[in-house]
Amino acid sequence: MTGPDTRSSQDRKPVRFLVLSASLRADSLNGRLARRAAETIEANGGEVDFRSMPDFEAPSYNADVQDETGFPPGADRFRECVQTADAFVISSPEYNASMPGELKNSIDWVSRFRPQPFNEKHGLLLSASPSMAGGNRGLWALRVPFEHLGARIYPDMFSLAQAHRAFDADGRIANDQLQERFDHNVVGFMDLVEASKHYPCVRTAWVEYLGERPDPATDRVE
Ligand SMILES: Cc1cc2nc3c(=O)[nH]c(=O)nc-3n(C[C@H](O)[C@H](O)[C@H](O)COP(=O)(O)O)c2cc1C
Repeated sequence: MTGPDTRSSQDRKPVRFLVLSASLRADSLNGRLARRAAETIEANGGEVDFRSMPDFEAPSYNADVQDETGFPPGADRFRECVQTADAFVISSPEYNASMPGELKNSIDWVSRFRPQPFNEKHGLLLSASPSMAGGNRGLWALRVPFEHLGARIYPDMFSLAQAHRAFDADGRIANDQLQERFDHNVVGFMDLVEASKHYPCVRTAWVEYLGERPDPATDRVE
């Protein structure tokens, strides 16, 4: 398998990752996969801010509520976590071949802050499900709002099939080959984020131009 280089973690410059388990459930399979991602990141020299969906709970988005009372505390926490991280990793359940409503609602709230926090953030999407598809269809749906908001979603996504049977007693992915593939995916993402943060010559302008004139009422990028 070709892929990320094998620099030791001492060679790596500090990069901070928000790792979010996007499930409200206490014994969440995505919580377990998100923990694995956090461990892999830390083992490879990254810093982790670990969160789960209850940290960001917010009422259904309503522009009237926003106008009258401002942003709910959960949405403001999510904004702050996104803004203070260099990149985010989300492990999300698949609900009816899409993302859970709670996650979409939180993305919608955060998208109303200016400057818009997801713009130009790198993101890695993971999923875990008891099904054979591992929740992968939900991740394709989740790409849509993030890419719309200017987030740079890593091309390789990782979906853990039959996740209810996939972990060993220590919380590792029991199948060594799969665990290795997972680490490879996460470290590849870390390399890209590090390069983007510390070696700005590799930065590219990533702007969608649909022909509209600049207008504060419609702009998603400040
Ligand atoms: C409303 C609902 C819809 C679901 N739809 C899907 C689905 O489309 N595909 C799938 O693989 N699993 C589906 N599931 C099962 C979830 O993958 C499973 O409950 C999983 O454990 C949720 O993730 P969590 O353990 O991190 O909470 C659904 C579950 C619920 C409650």
